[in-house]
Amino acid sequence: MTTPAVTPPAGTSALADFVVVANRLPVDLEKLPDGSQRWKRSPGGLVTALEPMLRSREGAWVGWPGIPDAHAEPFEEDGLTLHPVELSAQDVEDYYEGFSNGTLWPLYHDVVAPPAFHRHWWQAYVRVNQRFAEATAEVAAQGATVWVQDYQLQLLPTMLRELRPDLRIGFFLHIPFPPTELFQQLPWRQRIVEGLLGADLVGFHTPGGVRNFRWLATRFTDATPGARNEVTYQGRTVKLGAFPISIDSATLDTLSRSEEVQQRAKQIRADLGNPDRVILGVDRLDYTKGIDVRLRAFEELLAEERSGDAVMIQLATPSRERVEHYQKMRADIEQSVGRINGTYAQVGRPVLHYLHQSLPREELAAFFAAADVMLVTPLRDGMNLVAKEYVACRADLGGVLVLSEFAGAAIELKDAVLVNPHDTDGVKDALYRALTMPPEESRKRMRALRRQVLNNDVDRWARSFLDALGLPPS
Ligand code: ADP
Ligand code: G6P
Repeated sequence: MTTPAVTPPAGTSALADFVVVANRLPVDLEKLPDGSQRWKRSPGGLVTALEPMLRSREGAWVGWPGIPDAHAEPFEEDGLTLHPVELSAQDVEDYYEGFSNGTLWPLYHDVVAPPAFHRHWWQAYVRVNQRFAEATAEVAAQGATVWVQDYQLQLLPTMLRELRPDLRIGFFLHIPFPPTELFQQLPWRQRIVEGLLGADLVGFHTPGGVRNFRWLATRFTDATPGARNEVTYQGRTVKLGAFPISIDSATLDTLSRSEEVQQRAKQIRADLGNPDRVILGVDRLDYTKGIDVRLRAFEELLAEERSGDAVMIQLATPSRERVEHYQKMRADIEQSVGRINGTYAQVGRPVLHYLHQSLPREELAAFFAAADVMLVTPLRDGMNLVAKEYVACRADLGGVLVLSEFAGAAIELKDAVLVNPHDTDGVKDALYRALTMPPEESRKRMRALRRQVLNNDVDRWARSFLDALGLPPS
Protein backbone atom coordinates (compact mmCIF):
# COMPACT_ATOMS: atom_id res chain seq x y z
CA MET A 1 0.00 0.00 0.00
CA THR A 2 1.37 3.47 -0.80
CA THR A 3 1.39 6.17 1.83
CA PRO A 4 -0.70 9.23 0.92
CA ALA A 5 1.05 12.62 0.84
CA VAL A 6 0.25 14.51 4.02
CA THR A 7 0.05 18.30 4.42
CA PRO A 8 -0.52 20.33 7.59
CA PRO A 9 -4.13 21.31 8.26
CA ALA A 10 -5.08 24.98 7.92
CA GLY A 11 -4.45 27.01 11.07
CA THR A 12 -1.46 24.98 12.28
CA SER A 13 2.14 25.21 11.26
CA ALA A 14 3.32 21.63 11.04
CA LEU A 15 2.40 17.98 10.99
CA ALA A 16 2.96 16.32 14.33
CA ASP A 17 5.46 13.58 15.18
CA PHE A 18 3.47 12.62 18.25
CA VAL A 19 -0.31 12.52 18.23
CA VAL A 20 -2.80 11.57 20.93
CA VAL A 21 -6.30 10.64 19.78
CA ALA A 22 -9.08 10.50 22.36
CA ASN A 23 -12.83 10.85 22.19
CA ARG A 24 -12.54 14.18 24.00
CA LEU A 25 -10.11 17.06 23.68
CA PRO A 26 -8.57 18.10 27.03
CA VAL A 27 -10.88 21.13 26.87
CA ASP A 28 -14.63 21.30 26.23
CA LEU A 29 -16.29 24.02 24.21
CA GLU A 30 -18.98 25.72 26.26
CA LYS A 31 -21.73 27.87 24.77
CA LEU A 32 -22.72 30.67 27.15
CA PRO A 33 -26.26 32.11 27.39
CA ASP A 34 -25.14 35.35 25.68
CA GLY A 35 -24.16 33.30 22.60
CA SER A 36 -20.40 33.53 23.18
CA GLN A 37 -18.17 30.45 23.54
CA ARG A 38 -15.30 29.51 25.82
CA TRP A 39 -13.12 26.46 26.44
CA LYS A 40 -13.07 24.73 29.84
CA ARG A 41 -11.24 21.70 31.18
CA SER A 42 -12.85 18.32 30.28
CA PRO A 43 -13.96 15.90 33.00
CA GLY A 44 -12.48 12.52 33.93
CA GLY A 45 -9.29 10.65 34.59
CA LEU A 46 -8.07 10.33 31.01
CA VAL A 47 -7.56 14.07 30.62
CA THR A 48 -6.08 14.39 34.13
CA ALA A 49 -3.49 11.78 33.25
CA LEU A 50 -2.53 12.72 29.71
CA GLU A 51 -2.57 16.47 29.61
CA PRO A 52 0.66 17.21 31.53
CA MET A 53 2.55 14.51 29.65
CA LEU A 54 1.45 15.74 26.24
CA ARG A 55 2.11 19.42 26.91
CA SER A 56 5.72 18.57 27.71
CA ARG A 57 6.04 16.78 24.34
CA GLU A 58 4.50 19.55 22.22
CA GLY A 59 2.34 17.04 20.44
CA ALA A 60 -1.06 17.17 18.79
CA TRP A 61 -4.37 16.03 20.28
CA VAL A 62 -7.27 14.93 18.08
CA GLY A 63 -10.67 14.82 19.83
CA TRP A 64 -14.26 15.97 20.11
CA PRO A 65 -14.96 19.39 21.69
CA GLY A 66 -17.70 17.90 23.91
CA ILE A 67 -20.87 19.44 22.40
CA PRO A 68 -22.82 18.45 19.27
CA ASP A 69 -22.44 20.23 15.94
CA ALA A 70 -19.52 22.34 17.15
CA HIS A 71 -17.29 23.27 14.29
CA ALA A 72 -13.92 24.57 15.45
CA GLU A 73 -10.68 25.07 13.57
CA PRO A 74 -7.43 23.53 14.87
CA PHE A 75 -5.66 25.80 17.35
CA GLU A 76 -2.52 25.87 19.44
CA GLU A 77 -2.53 26.21 23.21
CA ASP A 78 0.54 26.10 25.42
CA GLY A 79 2.62 24.22 22.86
CA LEU A 80 -0.13 21.67 22.24
CA THR A 81 -2.03 21.63 18.94
CA LEU A 82 -5.70 20.72 19.33
CA HIS A 83 -7.61 19.27 16.38
CA PRO A 84 -11.38 19.26 16.98
CA VAL A 85 -13.46 16.47 15.37
CA GLU A 86 -17.09 17.45 14.82
CA LEU A 87 -19.90 15.13 15.96
CA SER A 88 -23.52 15.72 14.95
CA ALA A 89 -26.34 15.45 17.49
CA GLN A 90 -27.11 12.02 16.03
CA ASP A 91 -23.47 10.91 16.38
CA VAL A 92 -23.49 12.03 20.02
CA GLU A 93 -26.68 10.10 20.67
CA ASP A 94 -25.69 6.88 18.92
CA TYR A 95 -21.89 6.72 19.14
CA TYR A 96 -21.15 8.54 22.44
CA GLU A 97 -24.24 8.14 24.63
CA GLY A 98 -25.28 4.94 22.84
CA PHE A 99 -22.55 2.48 21.91
CA SER A 100 -19.75 3.98 24.03
CA ASN A 101 -21.70 4.66 27.20
CA GLY A 102 -24.81 2.50 26.88
CA THR A 103 -23.07 -0.64 25.55
CA LEU A 104 -19.31 -0.70 26.16
CA TRP A 105 -19.11 1.19 29.48
CA PRO A 106 -21.50 -1.11 31.42
CA LEU A 107 -20.24 -4.25 29.62
CA TYR A 108 -16.60 -3.52 30.47
CA HIS A 109 -17.50 -2.62 34.09
CA ASP A 110 -18.69 -6.13 34.92
CA VAL A 111 -22.26 -5.44 33.73
CA VAL A 112 -23.03 -3.55 36.96
CA ALA A 113 -25.82 -2.03 34.84
CA PRO A 114 -27.27 -3.95 31.88
CA PRO A 115 -25.63 -3.05 28.54
CA ALA A 116 -27.93 -2.44 25.55
CA PHE A 117 -27.06 -3.86 22.13
CA HIS A 118 -28.42 -1.86 19.19
CA ARG A 119 -27.26 -2.21 15.60
CA HIS A 120 -27.71 1.48 14.77
CA TRP A 121 -25.47 2.37 17.75
CA TRP A 122 -22.82 0.02 16.40
CA GLN A 123 -23.07 1.53 12.91
CA ALA A 124 -22.52 4.99 14.39
CA TYR A 125 -19.49 3.68 16.34
CA VAL A 126 -17.95 2.38 13.08
CA ARG A 127 -18.71 5.63 11.25
CA VAL A 128 -17.28 7.89 13.96
CA ASN A 129 -14.16 5.75 14.46
CA GLN A 130 -13.57 6.08 10.70
CA ARG A 131 -13.92 9.86 10.96
CA PHE A 132 -11.38 10.00 13.80
CA ALA A 133 -9.02 7.80 11.75
CA GLU A 134 -9.24 10.18 8.81
CA ALA A 135 -8.70 13.24 11.00
CA THR A 136 -5.65 11.60 12.58
CA ALA A 137 -4.21 10.54 9.23
CA GLU A 138 -4.29 14.21 8.20
CA VAL A 139 -2.32 15.58 11.14
CA ALA A 140 0.35 12.91 11.66
CA ALA A 141 3.75 13.44 10.06
CA GLN A 142 5.45 10.67 8.07
CA GLY A 143 6.48 7.88 10.47
CA ALA A 144 4.82 9.62 13.45
CA THR A 145 3.76 7.90 16.64
CA VAL A 146 0.03 7.90 17.34
CA TRP A 147 -1.33 6.99 20.74
CA VAL A 148 -5.02 6.06 20.67
CA GLN A 149 -6.97 6.28 23.93
CA ASP A 150 -9.82 4.34 25.40
CA TYR A 151 -12.95 2.35 24.68
CA GLN A 152 -14.64 4.88 22.42
CA LEU A 153 -11.98 4.34 19.72
CA GLN A 154 -11.22 0.62 19.65
CA LEU A 155 -11.67 0.30 15.86
CA LEU A 156 -9.32 3.16 15.16
CA PRO A 157 -5.96 1.32 15.22
CA THR A 158 -6.90 -0.91 12.26
CA MET A 159 -8.68 1.87 10.37
CA LEU A 160 -5.68 4.17 10.81
CA ARG A 161 -3.19 1.48 9.76
CA GLU A 162 -5.15 1.03 6.53
CA LEU A 163 -4.89 4.76 5.79
CA ARG A 164 -1.33 5.26 7.07
CA PRO A 165 0.79 2.09 7.27
CA ASP A 166 3.86 4.26 8.00
CA LEU A 167 2.64 5.17 11.51
CA ARG A 168 3.63 3.60 14.80
CA ILE A 169 0.36 3.01 16.67
CA GLY A 170 -0.20 2.44 20.38
CA PHE A 171 -3.53 1.91 22.10
CA PHE A 172 -4.32 2.23 25.81
CA LEU A 173 -7.57 1.20 27.47
CA HIS A 174 -8.38 3.41 30.48
CA ILE A 175 -11.24 1.25 31.74
CA PRO A 176 -11.15 -2.41 32.80
CA PHE A 177 -10.97 -5.04 30.06
CA PRO A 178 -13.77 -7.43 31.02
CA PRO A 179 -13.69 -11.15 31.79
CA THR A 180 -13.84 -13.17 28.54
CA GLU A 181 -17.33 -14.55 29.30
CA LEU A 182 -18.75 -11.02 29.49
CA PHE A 183 -16.89 -9.74 26.43
CA GLN A 184 -18.33 -12.59 24.42
CA GLN A 185 -21.84 -11.19 24.88
CA LEU A 186 -20.93 -8.43 22.43
CA PRO A 187 -22.41 -9.16 18.98
CA TRP A 188 -19.48 -7.28 17.37
CA ARG A 189 -16.76 -8.90 19.50
CA GLN A 190 -14.63 -10.03 16.56
CA ARG A 191 -14.62 -6.56 14.96
CA ILE A 192 -13.52 -4.94 18.22
CA VAL A 193 -10.67 -7.40 18.73
CA GLU A 194 -9.56 -6.96 15.09
CA GLY A 195 -9.76 -3.18 15.53
CA LEU A 196 -7.38 -3.26 18.50
CA LEU A 197 -4.97 -5.62 16.75
CA GLY A 198 -4.20 -2.83 14.27
CA ALA A 199 -1.97 -1.35 17.00
CA ASP A 200 1.71 -2.22 17.54
CA LEU A 201 1.13 -2.16 21.31
CA VAL A 202 -2.14 -2.61 23.21
CA GLY A 203 -1.96 -1.51 26.86
CA PHE A 204 -4.22 -2.27 29.81
CA HIS A 205 -4.09 -1.31 33.49
CA THR A 206 -3.68 -4.86 34.78
CA PRO A 207 -2.13 -8.21 33.79
CA GLY A 208 -5.68 -9.67 33.94
CA GLY A 209 -6.72 -7.39 31.07
CA VAL A 210 -3.73 -8.58 29.02
CA ARG A 211 -4.60 -12.24 29.62
CA ASN A 212 -8.25 -11.79 28.71
CA PHE A 213 -7.50 -9.91 25.51
CA ARG A 214 -4.80 -12.36 24.44
CA TRP A 215 -7.19 -15.28 24.85
CA LEU A 216 -9.94 -13.51 22.89
CA ALA A 217 -7.56 -12.50 20.09
CA THR A 218 -6.51 -16.08 19.48
CA ARG A 219 -10.10 -17.35 19.88
CA PHE A 220 -11.89 -14.88 17.54
CA THR A 221 -9.26 -13.87 14.96
CA ASP A 222 -6.36 -15.47 13.08
CA ALA A 223 -3.92 -14.15 15.67
CA THR A 224 -1.53 -16.76 17.02
CA PRO A 225 0.21 -16.66 20.40
CA GLY A 226 3.80 -15.38 20.18
CA ALA A 227 6.25 -14.85 23.02
CA ARG A 228 4.71 -14.00 26.39
CA ASN A 229 2.60 -10.84 26.04
CA GLU A 230 2.70 -10.93 22.24
CA VAL A 231 0.51 -12.20 19.44
CA THR A 232 1.25 -12.47 15.74
CA TYR A 233 -1.45 -11.04 13.53
CA GLN A 234 -1.35 -10.64 9.75
CA GLY A 235 2.42 -11.04 9.73
CA ARG A 236 2.99 -8.39 12.43
CA THR A 237 3.87 -8.71 16.08
CA VAL A 238 1.34 -7.04 18.36
CA LYS A 239 2.71 -6.41 21.85
CA LEU A 240 0.41 -6.46 24.87
CA GLY A 241 1.23 -5.02 28.27
CA ALA A 242 -0.01 -3.88 31.68
CA PHE A 243 0.69 -0.21 32.44
CA PRO A 244 -1.06 1.04 35.61
CA ILE A 245 -1.75 4.72 35.02
CA SER A 246 -1.00 7.42 37.59
CA ILE A 247 -1.16 11.15 38.28
CA ASP A 248 1.17 14.13 38.20
CA SER A 249 2.00 13.41 41.85
CA ALA A 250 4.77 15.96 42.41
CA THR A 251 2.70 18.87 41.08
CA LEU A 252 -0.27 17.93 43.23
CA ASP A 253 1.98 17.40 46.25
CA THR A 254 3.41 20.92 45.79
CA LEU A 255 -0.01 22.44 45.24
CA SER A 256 -1.44 20.81 48.35
CA ARG A 257 1.44 22.11 50.51
CA SER A 258 0.86 25.72 49.41
CA GLU A 259 -0.27 28.23 52.01
CA GLU A 260 -3.46 28.97 50.02
CA VAL A 261 -4.55 25.35 49.89
CA GLN A 262 -3.73 24.72 53.55
CA GLN A 263 -5.68 27.84 54.61
CA ARG A 264 -8.59 26.84 52.41
CA ALA A 265 -8.58 23.35 53.98
CA LYS A 266 -8.85 24.93 57.44
CA GLN A 267 -11.64 27.18 56.19
CA ILE A 268 -13.58 24.20 54.82
CA ARG A 269 -13.40 22.48 58.22
CA ALA A 270 -14.45 25.68 59.94
CA ASP A 271 -17.38 26.10 57.53
CA LEU A 272 -18.46 22.56 58.46
CA GLY A 273 -18.46 23.56 62.15
CA ASN A 274 -15.06 22.01 62.95
CA PRO A 275 -16.36 18.45 63.37
CA ASP A 276 -14.05 15.78 64.84
CA ARG A 277 -14.00 13.86 61.57
CA VAL A 278 -14.54 14.82 57.92
CA ILE A 279 -15.37 12.01 55.47
CA LEU A 280 -15.00 12.71 51.74
CA GLY A 281 -16.10 11.17 48.43
CA VAL A 282 -15.04 12.67 45.05
CA ASP A 283 -16.25 11.17 41.77
CA ARG A 284 -17.75 11.70 38.39
CA LEU A 285 -21.42 10.96 39.07
CA ASP A 286 -21.29 7.42 37.67
CA TYR A 287 -23.08 4.25 38.75
CA THR A 288 -19.79 2.32 38.73
CA LYS A 289 -18.39 4.50 41.54
CA GLY A 290 -20.44 2.98 44.37
CA ILE A 291 -21.58 6.33 45.77
CA ASP A 292 -24.76 4.60 47.00
CA VAL A 293 -22.60 2.00 48.80
CA ARG A 294 -20.81 4.60 50.91
CA LEU A 295 -23.97 6.60 51.63
CA ARG A 296 -25.59 3.42 52.95
CA ALA A 297 -22.58 2.65 55.15
CA PHE A 298 -22.59 6.20 56.56
CA GLU A 299 -26.35 6.13 57.12
CA GLU A 300 -26.13 2.85 59.04
CA LEU A 301 -23.29 4.16 61.21
CA LEU A 302 -25.43 7.22 61.99
CA ALA A 303 -28.37 4.98 62.84
CA GLU A 304 -26.18 2.91 65.15
CA GLU A 305 -24.77 6.11 66.72
CA ARG A 306 -21.26 4.95 65.89
CA SER A 307 -20.22 7.82 63.59
CA GLY A 308 -19.18 10.14 66.42
CA ASP A 309 -18.99 13.80 65.44
CA ALA A 310 -18.45 13.13 61.74
CA VAL A 311 -19.61 15.06 58.68
CA MET A 312 -19.53 13.65 55.17
CA ILE A 313 -19.00 15.55 51.92
CA GLN A 314 -19.75 14.04 48.51
CA LEU A 315 -18.46 15.99 45.50
CA ALA A 316 -19.86 14.71 42.23
CA THR A 317 -18.97 16.03 38.77
CA PRO A 318 -21.97 16.00 36.42
CA SER A 319 -21.49 13.28 33.82
CA ARG A 320 -23.33 11.76 30.81
CA GLU A 321 -26.54 13.35 31.94
CA ARG A 322 -28.67 12.23 28.99
CA VAL A 323 -27.91 8.52 29.48
CA GLU A 324 -30.76 6.74 31.27
CA HIS A 325 -28.75 4.78 33.88
CA TYR A 326 -27.11 8.05 34.95
CA GLN A 327 -30.41 9.86 35.36
CA LYS A 328 -31.80 7.07 37.53
CA MET A 329 -28.67 6.90 39.68
CA ARG A 330 -28.63 10.67 40.21
CA ALA A 331 -32.25 10.64 41.34
CA ASP A 332 -31.55 7.74 43.76
CA ILE A 333 -28.48 9.43 45.24
CA GLU A 334 -30.18 12.77 45.68
CA GLN A 335 -33.09 11.02 47.39
CA SER A 336 -30.66 9.29 49.79
CA VAL A 337 -28.95 12.60 50.56
CA GLY A 338 -32.33 14.15 51.39
CA ARG A 339 -33.34 11.18 53.53
CA ILE A 340 -30.07 11.09 55.49
CA ASN A 341 -30.09 14.82 56.25
CA GLY A 342 -33.84 14.73 56.90
CA THR A 343 -33.28 12.13 59.59
CA TYR A 344 -29.95 13.10 61.19
CA ALA A 345 -29.23 16.81 60.50
CA GLN A 346 -29.91 19.71 62.82
CA VAL A 347 -30.79 23.23 61.73
CA GLY A 348 -27.62 24.72 60.27
CA ARG A 349 -25.73 21.42 60.74
CA PRO A 350 -26.20 18.95 57.84
CA VAL A 351 -24.44 15.61 58.37
CA LEU A 352 -23.99 15.16 54.63
CA HIS A 353 -22.98 17.83 52.10
CA TYR A 354 -23.55 17.00 48.44
CA LEU A 355 -22.20 19.19 45.64
CA HIS A 356 -23.16 18.25 42.09
CA GLN A 357 -20.38 20.43 40.70
CA SER A 358 -16.99 20.31 39.09
CA LEU A 359 -14.38 22.13 41.17
CA PRO A 360 -11.04 23.74 40.25
CA ARG A 361 -7.89 21.70 41.06
CA GLU A 362 -6.84 24.00 43.97
CA GLU A 363 -10.24 23.66 45.59
CA LEU A 364 -10.19 19.88 45.17
CA ALA A 365 -6.71 19.73 46.74
CA ALA A 366 -8.06 21.69 49.73
CA PHE A 367 -10.92 19.19 50.18
CA PHE A 368 -8.43 16.31 50.06
CA ALA A 369 -6.23 18.08 52.62
CA ALA A 370 -9.27 18.68 54.87
CA ALA A 371 -10.57 15.08 54.88
CA ASP A 372 -9.79 12.57 57.64
CA VAL A 373 -11.28 9.68 55.71
CA MET A 374 -11.43 9.31 51.93
CA LEU A 375 -14.06 6.84 50.71
CA VAL A 376 -13.36 5.35 47.26
CA THR A 377 -15.81 2.49 46.78
CA PRO A 378 -16.33 1.67 43.08
CA LEU A 379 -17.99 -1.60 42.13
CA ARG A 380 -15.47 -1.74 39.30
CA ASP A 381 -12.93 0.87 38.14
CA GLY A 382 -10.05 0.69 35.65
CA MET A 383 -7.70 2.54 38.01
CA ASN A 384 -9.34 5.38 40.02
CA LEU A 385 -7.11 8.43 40.08
CA VAL A 386 -8.99 10.07 42.94
CA ALA A 387 -7.46 7.54 45.36
CA LYS A 388 -3.96 8.51 44.19
CA GLU A 389 -4.78 12.23 44.27
CA TYR A 390 -5.84 12.00 47.92
CA VAL A 391 -2.56 10.34 48.84
CA ALA A 392 -0.55 12.95 46.90
CA CYS A 393 -2.27 15.72 48.90
CA ARG A 394 -1.33 14.26 52.32
CA ALA A 395 2.26 15.35 52.90
CA ASP A 396 1.22 15.70 56.56
CA LEU A 397 0.68 11.88 56.64
CA GLY A 398 -2.84 12.58 57.91
CA GLY A 399 -5.96 10.85 56.65
CA VAL A 400 -7.07 7.29 55.93
CA LEU A 401 -7.89 5.94 52.49
CA VAL A 402 -10.72 3.37 52.29
CA LEU A 403 -10.47 1.74 48.86
CA SER A 404 -12.50 -0.81 46.93
CA GLU A 405 -10.75 -4.07 46.03
CA PHE A 406 -12.41 -3.69 42.62
CA ALA A 407 -10.51 -0.52 41.66
CA GLY A 408 -7.33 -1.08 39.63
CA ALA A 409 -5.58 1.15 42.20
CA ALA A 410 -6.03 -1.55 44.89
CA ILE A 411 -3.25 -3.61 43.24
CA GLU A 412 -0.73 -0.87 44.06
CA LEU A 413 -2.29 0.85 47.10
CA LYS A 414 -2.12 -2.13 49.43
CA ASP A 415 -1.79 0.02 52.53
CA ALA A 416 -5.27 1.46 52.10
CA VAL A 417 -8.11 -0.07 54.11
CA LEU A 418 -9.40 -2.39 51.37
CA VAL A 419 -13.12 -3.18 51.15
CA ASN A 420 -15.52 -5.27 49.11
CA PRO A 421 -18.13 -2.70 48.00
CA HIS A 422 -20.79 -5.42 47.71
CA ASP A 423 -20.49 -6.09 51.45
CA THR A 424 -22.33 -3.29 53.25
CA ASP A 425 -21.30 -4.51 56.71
CA GLY A 426 -17.69 -4.70 55.52
CA VAL A 427 -17.76 -1.12 54.17
CA LYS A 428 -19.42 0.10 57.38
CA ASP A 429 -16.81 -1.63 59.53
CA ALA A 430 -14.00 -0.23 57.36
CA LEU A 431 -15.45 3.27 57.70
CA TYR A 432 -15.69 2.87 61.48
CA ARG A 433 -12.14 1.54 61.60
CA ALA A 434 -10.91 4.50 59.53
CA LEU A 435 -12.75 6.97 61.77
CA THR A 436 -11.18 5.49 64.89
CA MET A 437 -7.74 4.44 63.60
CA PRO A 438 -4.84 5.26 65.96
CA PRO A 439 -2.63 7.98 64.42
CA GLU A 440 0.50 5.73 64.53
CA GLU A 441 -1.21 3.22 62.27
CA SER A 442 -2.73 5.76 59.85
CA ARG A 443 0.59 7.61 59.50
CA LYS A 444 2.43 4.38 58.78
CA ARG A 445 -0.09 3.46 56.11
CA MET A 446 -0.04 6.92 54.54
CA ARG A 447 3.76 6.94 54.44
CA ALA A 448 3.77 3.68 52.46
CA LEU A 449 0.99 4.89 50.15
CA ARG A 450 2.85 8.11 49.43
CA ARG A 451 6.02 6.25 48.57
CA GLN A 452 4.05 4.29 45.98
CA VAL A 453 2.22 7.28 44.47
CA LEU A 454 5.16 9.68 44.40
CA ASN A 455 7.54 7.12 42.89
CA ASN A 456 5.11 5.93 40.23
CA ASP A 457 3.78 9.05 38.58
CA VAL A 458 2.13 9.66 35.23
CA ASP A 459 5.44 10.46 33.52
CA ARG A 460 6.74 7.08 34.49
CA TRP A 461 3.55 5.46 33.18
CA ALA A 462 3.78 7.27 29.84
CA ARG A 463 7.50 6.56 29.59
CA SER A 464 7.03 2.83 30.15
CA PHE A 465 4.24 2.67 27.55
CA LEU A 466 6.18 4.68 24.98
CA ASP A 467 9.38 2.67 25.63
CA ALA A 468 7.46 -0.52 24.98
CA LEU A 469 6.11 1.07 21.79
CA GLY A 470 9.70 1.85 20.78
CA LEU A 471 9.50 5.65 20.89
CA PRO A 472 12.80 7.32 21.88
CA PRO A 473 12.64 9.78 24.86
CA SER A 474 11.70 13.37 23.89
P1 ADP B 1 -12.94 8.52 35.91
O1 ADP B 1 -11.80 8.48 34.96
O2 ADP B 1 -13.86 7.35 35.81
O3 ADP B 1 -13.69 9.81 35.88
P2 ADP B 1 -10.88 8.79 37.98
O4 ADP B 1 -10.98 8.73 39.45
O5 ADP B 1 -9.80 7.97 37.39
O6 ADP B 1 -12.32 8.40 37.39
O7 ADP B 1 -10.63 10.28 37.51
C1 ADP B 1 -11.54 11.30 37.85
C2 ADP B 1 -10.85 12.66 37.69
O8 ADP B 1 -11.86 13.67 37.77
C3 ADP B 1 -9.86 12.92 38.80
O9 ADP B 1 -8.75 13.63 38.28
C4 ADP B 1 -10.66 13.79 39.77
O10 ADP B 1 -9.89 14.69 40.54
C5 ADP B 1 -11.57 14.55 38.84
N1 ADP B 1 -12.82 14.90 39.54
C6 ADP B 1 -13.71 14.05 40.10
N2 ADP B 1 -14.71 14.74 40.70
C7 ADP B 1 -14.43 16.03 40.53
C8 ADP B 1 -15.09 17.26 40.92
N3 ADP B 1 -16.26 17.26 41.59
N4 ADP B 1 -14.51 18.42 40.55
C9 ADP B 1 -13.35 18.41 39.84
N5 ADP B 1 -12.70 17.31 39.45
C10 ADP B 1 -13.22 16.14 39.79
C1 G6P C 1 -13.36 8.05 32.04
C2 G6P C 1 -13.10 7.48 30.66
C3 G6P C 1 -12.69 8.59 29.71
C4 G6P C 1 -13.73 9.71 29.73
C5 G6P C 1 -13.96 10.20 31.16
C6 G6P C 1 -15.05 11.24 31.26
O1 G6P C 1 -12.17 8.57 32.52
O2 G6P C 1 -12.11 6.48 30.72
O3 G6P C 1 -12.54 8.11 28.39
O4 G6P C 1 -13.33 10.79 28.92
O5 G6P C 1 -14.33 9.09 31.97
O6 G6P C 1 -16.23 10.79 30.64
P1 G6P C 1 -16.90 11.54 29.42
O7 G6P C 1 -17.95 10.60 28.91
O8 G6P C 1 -17.44 12.79 30.01
O9 G6P C 1 -15.84 11.80 28.39
